[in-house]
Amino acid sequence: MRSLLFLLALGFAAAEDGSAAWLRYAPVPGASNYRSLPSAIVALNSSTSSPVFVASQELQKGVKGILGKQLSLANGTNKASSSIIVGTADAYKEAYGNFDEADELEDDGYFLSTKGKNVMIIGQNPRGALYGAFEYLSRLGQGKFSPVSYVSNPHAPIRWVNEWNNMDGSIERGYAGLSFFFRNGLVVENVTRAAEYARILASLGINGIIINNVNANATLLSTRNIDGIGRIADAMRPYGVQVGISLNFASPQTFGGLSTFDPLNPAVDAWWANITDQIYKRVPDMAGYLVKANSEGQPGPLTYNRTLADGANMFARAAKPHRGVVMFRAFVYDNHINESNWKNDRANAAVEFFKDLDGKFDENVVVQIKFGPIDFQVREPPSPLFSTLRNTSTAVELQVQPEYLGQNCHLVYLAPQWKEILEFDMRADNKGSKVKDIISGERFKRPLGGSAGVVNVGTNATWLGHHLSMSNLYAYGQLAWDPSQEPDEILQDWIRLTFGFDRHVMNTIVDMSMKSWPAYENYSGNLGIQTLTDILYTHFGPNPATQDGNGWGQWTRADGFSVGMDRTAKNGTGNAGQYAPAIAQMFENIDTTPDNLLLWFHHVNYTHPLKSGKTVIQHFYDAHYEGAATAQTFVPMWEALKGKIDDQRFNEVLFRQVFQAGHSLVWRDAISRFYHNKSGIADRHNRVDNYRYRIEAEKMTLDGYKTYAVSPFHTASGSMAIITTSNNSVGTATTTIPFSSGTYNVAVNYFDLIGGKSKYELSINNRTIGTWSGDLEDKLGHAPSIYLDGHSATRITFKDIKVNKGDTLKIVGTANGIEPAPVDYVSFLPHGIID
Ligand code: GCU
Repeated sequence: MRSLLFLLALGFAAAEDGSAAWLRYAPVPGASNYRSLPSAIVALNSSTSSPVFVASQELQKGVKGILGKQLSLANGTNKASSSIIVGTADAYKEAYGNFDEADELEDDGYFLSTKGKNVMIIGQNPRGALYGAFEYLSRLGQGKFSPVSYVSNPHAPIRWVNEWNNMDGSIERGYAGLSFFFRNGLVVENVTRAAEYARILASLGINGIIINNVNANATLLSTRNIDGIGRIADAMRPYGVQVGISLNFASPQTFGGLSTFDPLNPAVDAWWANITDQIYKRVPDMAGYLVKANSEGQPGPLTYNRTLADGANMFARAAKPHRGVVMFRAFVYDNHINESNWKNDRANAAVEFFKDLDGKFDENVVVQIKFGPIDFQVREPPSPLFSTLRNTSTAVELQVQPEYLGQNCHLVYLAPQWKEILEFDMRADNKGSKVKDIISGERFKRPLGGSAGVVNVGTNATWLGHHLSMSNLYAYGQLAWDPSQEPDEILQDWIRLTFGFDRHVMNTIVDMSMKSWPAYENYSGNLGIQTLTDILYTHFGPNPATQDGNGWGQWTRADGFSVGMDRTAKNGTGNAGQYAPAIAQMFENIDTTPDNLLLWFHHVNYTHPLKSGKTVIQHFYDAHYEGAATAQTFVPMWEALKGKIDDQRFNEVLFRQVFQAGHSLVWRDAISRFYHNKSGIADRHNRVDNYRYRIEAEKMTLDGYKTYAVSPFHTASGSMAIITTSNNSVGTATTTIPFSSGTYNVAVNYFDLIGGKSKYELSINNRTIGTWSGDLEDKLGHAPSIYLDGHSATRITFKDIKVNKGDTLKIVGTANGIEPAPVDYVSFLPHGIID
C-alpha cells in the first residue's frame, strides 16, 4: 500500500504555491533502484540550534519525501550498520579517528561521499555540514544516484543577500509583497518566514543577509529593534545565515542626539563603537554592516570633507573587535550632473571617488561594486572599478530581483548576464583578471570578497512573485558558490528540483529561460543603450525620453541624427580609459567595441552601420519586433505543458507569460515609435505605426467616454486613448467591425492604473465576448502607475472569436476610483498574426 501511495504521489502532483521553492523533496522516478540507502542518520555533536542538527532533520525529511524511506535519527556515533553521517570534520575525527580529506576543506566547505557503506557529509564547520546535506539531497532529488566522493569549497567567503526592506514594512524595489522582517517601524514578532527563508538561502550556501534597505532608517538602532534583530538572527542562525544591517551614516546626529556625524570626531566614533557593542551583545555572530553613503541623497563623510575611506573605516573600527565586516558601497555619484557638458559621465563616478582610496580601507572593509558602472541595466560592461582597486577587498553586487528587467512580471533568466560579467577578463597588468577571481580575493591576494545579491523577497508565497524567477535566486547562490558553472546546467538542476523530470517541461523552461534575456534586451533597449524605461518613475515600462535632460546621468544623448554616449578617451567622457589598457583599447575603438555595447561607448548617427551590416536605427526596429515576437511564443510553449505541472503553478505562470507577451508589444511599439519620430527614418519593413488589425478606441463612437492624449505619446497606439467622462461613471464605445468575416483572437489594450478597479465588458452584436477588471495591482507586483502610460498599458486577449464583417463591437467601461476605464485599441488578429 505504501508503495502504491508513493506511485500515486509521483503521478498526481498536488497544487503547489511555490513556497517550497526547490526544496520540495518530491518523489523521484526510479527511486526503487536506489538500494544502497543507509537506514539511519547520525548527527555528530549537534545541539538543536546547530546547523548540523538542522542538517540531520533536513536529511530525514528529504529522504522521506524523495525516496519514501523513514530514516532513524541518532545524535552521537554510528550504531546502525550503515548511516548517513553528518557533522564537522573535528567531530568526525573525534568520533572515528581518521579523516583524510580534512586538509582540503576550507571555510564553509564540505566533503560528500556516497561511495562507502556510510554516506559521509562532513563540513569544515557546522554550516559546511548543512551545505553538504543540502547538496546530497539535491542530488537525490534530481535522481543523481551514482556514487560520488568529493570536496566542495566556496569560491569566495562572502556570499550574501541584501534585502531592501523598510521599517514600515514596504520593500524598496520589491515586487512580491511586504516585508516579513519589519512592520510599523518595528521588527516583527513572528519570525517563522525569516527562518524559512534562511533554509532556502542555506540550501544555496548563502551565509549572510542584510535585512534592511540600503537607504537605511536609523530607528533600527533602537533598543527594541536591536532585540528584534536578535530575534531574526536567532531564527536564521540554525541555518548558518548570519544577519547584518544597513546603516544610515547620519545616525549619531539624527538618532543619537549628537551635534555631528563627522567620522573623525571622537564622539561620533565612540557612539558607533557603543551601539555596535550593544548590537553584538544581542547578536554575537552578526555578519556586519552595509553602508550607502553620499549617494542619491544619503548622508556620508563627504559632508565633512572626509574621504569615503574615513567613513568606512569608522564602522570597520567599531566592528573589528567583533569580527564584523563592513560592506561599503561603491554606488557613489552625483545625481545632479549637467548633460550639456559632453565630458560629464555618471559612469566615471565610482573610479573617480575610489581610485585614490585604494589601500586606505581597513582590512575588514569590502567595497561592494554594482556589476556595471550605472545601475543594473539590461546590459552594461563590468565596472572599471574591479580592476582599479588592487589593495582593497571587493564584492560584486547583482540584482536578483530585476528592477530594470521586468520586475518579475517578465521572465528574464539572469544567470547568463551574470556569467558574462563574472567571466569578463579585466586584463589588469595585462594578466588574466576575471571579475570572478578579483572578487574572490584570488587575483589581488585579498583576504575578503565575494558577492551580494539584491533579492527583495516578500510575503508572496512565491517569494519573488513569479515562479520561474526563482531560477534567478537559485542561480545566484550557485554562481556565488562556484562561478564556473554554466547557466543552462544550473537551470536544468533547478527545473528538476522545482518541476520534476518531464522532458517536455524541462526543454520548454530551458528554452524559454535561455531566450528570455536576449528577448528582453531586444524589446527594451539594445546596442548598450540601457533599459529604456522610465528612470524618473517606476523603472518598469518604456519611456526613453526620461533618460536624457536630467541630472541622473543615465543619458543616451539621443537627438534627431545620432544617439549614444561617447565614452572614449580621445573625444568623450574618458570612461573607456578607466579600464586596463587592453580593455580600454577595445572600447575606445568603435571597430573593436562589440555591437551590444556600441551605444554605451560611442555616439553615432542612426545610419551608422553595425557589424551585422544593418544600420543602428534598423537594428532598433528589427530587435524590438523580434524580441516581442519571441515573448509571444512563450505563451503557447507554456500552454503546451498543461497537465504536466500542477494547476496552481501552471496557471500562475501562464498569467504572467500572457502579461509579458502583451507588455512586450507595448515596449516594442513605444520604443520603435519614439526613435522613428526622433530620427524621421522609416523602418525598411514599414512596421512602425502601421498596425492594420487595430481599431483605435478614440475613433469609435463614444458615449460617456472621451478622448485623452496619452503622455508619453508613444505609449498609446495613435497617441490617444479614451477615458470615462467622469469618475465612477460608465462609458460606451461602439463601432462596426471592418475586417472580413472569420475567426480572430481579439486583443484589447487598456491601461490598468493603481487607485481603482474599473470593470470592462467587450461584446460583439451584444454577445459578451469577455469581462475583466483593471485589478492587476492585486495580481502583479511591479511598481504601479497612476497614469495612462507604458507601465499601466496592458493587453487582454480573447481567443478564437467568430466575427462577421459589419458586426457591432462594443466596449462598456465602468470607472472606479481614479481609474477611468481607459482603453487604447482593439486588435482583430487572424491566426499567427501579432499586431
Ligand atoms: C537604484 C534603485 C534605488 C536604490 C539604488 C541603490 O537607483 O532604483 O531604489 O536605492 O539603486 O542601489 O542604492
